[in-house]
Amino acid sequence: MIIGIPKETKEHEYRVASIPSDVAELIGAGHTVMVEHDAGARAGYYDEDYAAVGAQIVDAEQVYTADLIYKVKEVLPHEYDCYKREGQILFTYIHSAAHPEQSVELMNRKVIGIAYEDVTDAEGRLPLLAPMSEMAGKGGFMAAVRFKETINGGDGMMLSRVCGVETPHIVIIGCGGTGMGAAEYASALGNKVTILDVSRKAMQRAHSLLPANVEFLQASRENVLKNIKTADVIINCVLWQKTRKDHMIYRDDLKLMKRGAMIVDVACDDNGAIETCRSTTHDDPVYYEEGVLHYAVANIPSLYAHTSSILLSNATLPYTLEIANKGVKQALKDNKYLRAGLSFWDGKATLKECCDVNGYEWNNPDELVKTF
Ligand SMILES: NC(=O)c1ccc[n+]([C@@H]2O[C@H](COP(=O)([O-])OP(=O)(O)OC[C@H]3O[C@@H](n4cnc5c(N)ncnc54)[C@H](O)[C@@H]3O)[C@@H](O)[C@H]2O)c1
Repeated sequence: MIIGIPKETKEHEYRVASIPSDVAELIGAGHTVMVEHDAGARAGYYDEDYAAVGAQIVDAEQVYTADLIYKVKEVLPHEYDCYKREGQILFTYIHSAAHPEQSVELMNRKVIGIAYEDVTDAEGRLPLLAPMSEMAGKGGFMAAVRFKETINGGDGMMLSRVCGVETPHIVIIGCGGTGMGAAEYASALGNKVTILDVSRKAMQRAHSLLPANVEFLQASRENVLKNIKTADVIINCVLWQKTRKDHMIYRDDLKLMKRGAMIVDVACDDNGAIETCRSTTHDDPVYYEEGVLHYAVANIPSLYAHTSSILLSNATLPYTLEIANKGVKQALKDNKYLRAGLSFWDGKATLKECCDVNGYEWNNPDELVKTF
């Protein structure tokens, strides 16, 4: 199979889908890999590194002639016309529910879309989201550190345990991949950390891994309200259903927050668990609502493009190899976990959540593969 790795064009997106050592694995399995010029440069992987393992360095036009487009972010409007071949495979974060215009374009072009974020594993987890979740949680806490700094417009609070000063209170909602990343960093610096979650199982797991300065509470409305009042930073790490209309923190609740407190919305769901959340960019990352500073950057892992690219590339490689080795039909047929990520096939929408949110007819991928 011919695999194309384009350079990402989203604002401040510097990750690359595959690092040279993983490209070597694809080439070793008999595939041709085309890497767009400078695709990995900002992540610390240069054209010569890819050429050294046998990749072809090509321009943007050529990379999109590949059978499989292997990238990082969703397809942006100025990239729609790059997809000229019916049946071309796109393996990337697609976020189809949140980007209906992209979904229509990809269906019209009959692109086969497989979304990293919806691929599952035997434990029902999301193995291609998890590595970036850890990075986003850690990066979300680092953003709080940065925007608390006086010179960055913050209240000048150092988010760590300092002798003679009251210890900051970091409230983390959700202790999955992102929440654990945030909690690991926040607790390591000695902060008082409270984690709120609805899953006792998730909390028990986190409890056994995190230190004693982390307490766990059920995410009841009462506990949310109680902790909003004492938090110096709230970090939202909840996996919120896109179809939900309610919120965990309402606009009015912000009035209860301490002066100078901030919200980091790692989950970054517009009008989601945090009613006042709207996603932001690295160029313009923060805004105020009701006097509360909000940080809601949608691609936090790109802040650490080198580390994130290694994690993402290593996590996606087995699936890319399976698609390339078997062909996409057989891979989808054999691997129900990969199939869970199938978003578009031959102009049809196959991801239930995207169909529910956008009103498309749902084509069950389990039934679809029986026709292959
Ligand atoms: N901004 C970014 O750059 C970035 C990067 C990666 C992931 N994300 C997003 O972060 C979100 C969380 O991802 P994750 O990998 O941590 O998910 P996850 O499934 O690992 O964890 C989510 C946690 O939220 C808990 N939860 C669900 N509903 C809750 C509620 N009502 N109250 C309290 N807790 C609740 C779950 O029990 C679970 O422990 C996702 O929406 C993901 O897309 C954002």
